[in-house]
Amino acid sequence: MKLKIALLPGDGIGPEVLQQALKVLDAISEKYHHTFEFITASIGAIAIEEFGVPLPDETLQICSKADAILFGAIGDPKYDNNPSAKVRPEQGLLKLRKNLGLFANIRPLTTYDSLIHTSNLKKEVIKGTDFVIYRELTSGIYFGEKKLSDDGNSAYDNCSYTAEEIDRIAHLAFKAASQRRKKLTLVDKANVLETSRLWRKRVLEISKEYPTIKLEFLFVDNAAMQLILNPKQFDIILTENMFGDILSDEASVISGSIGLLASASIGKHTALFEPIHGSYPEAKGKNIANPLAAVLSAAMLLEHFDLFDEAEDIRNAVEKSIDLNISTPDLNSTNHFSTSSVGNFLRDFILDEENTFYNKNNIDLGQSTII
Ligand code: IPM
Ligand code: MN
Repeated sequence: MKLKIALLPGDGIGPEVLQQALKVLDAISEKYHHTFEFITASIGAIAIEEFGVPLPDETLQICSKADAILFGAIGDPKYDNNPSAKVRPEQGLLKLRKNLGLFANIRPLTTYDSLIHTSNLKKEVIKGTDFVIYRELTSGIYFGEKKLSDDGNSAYDNCSYTAEEIDRIAHLAFKAASQRRKKLTLVDKANVLETSRLWRKRVLEISKEYPTIKLEFLFVDNAAMQLILNPKQFDIILTENMFGDILSDEASVISGSIGLLASASIGKHTALFEPIHGSYPEAKGKNIANPLAAVLSAAMLLEHFDLFDEAEDIRNAVEKSIDLNISTPDLNSTNHFSTSSVGNFLRDFILDEENTFYNKNNIDLGQSTII
């Protein structure tokens, strides 16, 4: 298969984790004889420095023409700590999502038995947890009108949804539930918010087309609690933009590290794949960031094009690295591996599983395969 993939490394640890995803994709293309063409483009704080805007037109052009986009991370403390900054890196990602119509953000949460101990939660609570968050991505409070009054003393962010915006992601979520354990939980705040009441009405209506799916409603405050109390109850969680943002970070605690969570943002034409973690500026350039979320995002990209064996290869390599504790400090505090060493191991394992020699020194030297 031929695929044109736009690469947006972005800020902080983005470039270094994306580099590992690339190693893995190169290994897959070599093994399966695919042709992946990569085009790198600028976004985020780095684009502001170079071009004065967080999403240059050229980047948008490259992304619109690509079959898929692989994204690193966005954000810089320089802007986080300056509330009056008019131009912010995050605007680049939001504009990209909006312009490409990437309305459904899919965030799977899986647990790995050998990582159960790294979570702060109890083993019996989290073991076997497996759900997917369907987060609406191009509307709601993120994209409503916002304003700061002239005197700087009051501000608002408008939250609005149309039936059409709700329906299109609801259908995707119901379809996903039919392929899984057939349960869908709509998370909202329908006891307070008008938009949430519209979500309930539309989702209830749409559920009639999916009679085999058990539909449940949960208020977001309760959902935040249930995620920690009993995460196994969830199969598909469907929710609006900001609730999905918050709940997915919370959910990452279940898997042991936010550095494990990948996501796919599906749109009308193209699709974008990105780790859910941020730019982790403290770790930038230190070769310590966990590359697995970026690598698993690459696996989701392949699945999007029905390359299931290829995606499976990546997941197997990731699982192997976790089992063998070939992991970055977030998962392995005592005897950890660097970002690039984990990437080298994954690449070598994909290319030559049988002969991959698990020796820390060799992996560190980028020579994990000994034939
Ligand atoms: C995410 C991020 C973004 C969001 C930021 C960087 C704008 O937190 O993808 O979850 O809030 O959507
Ligand atoms: Mn987030």
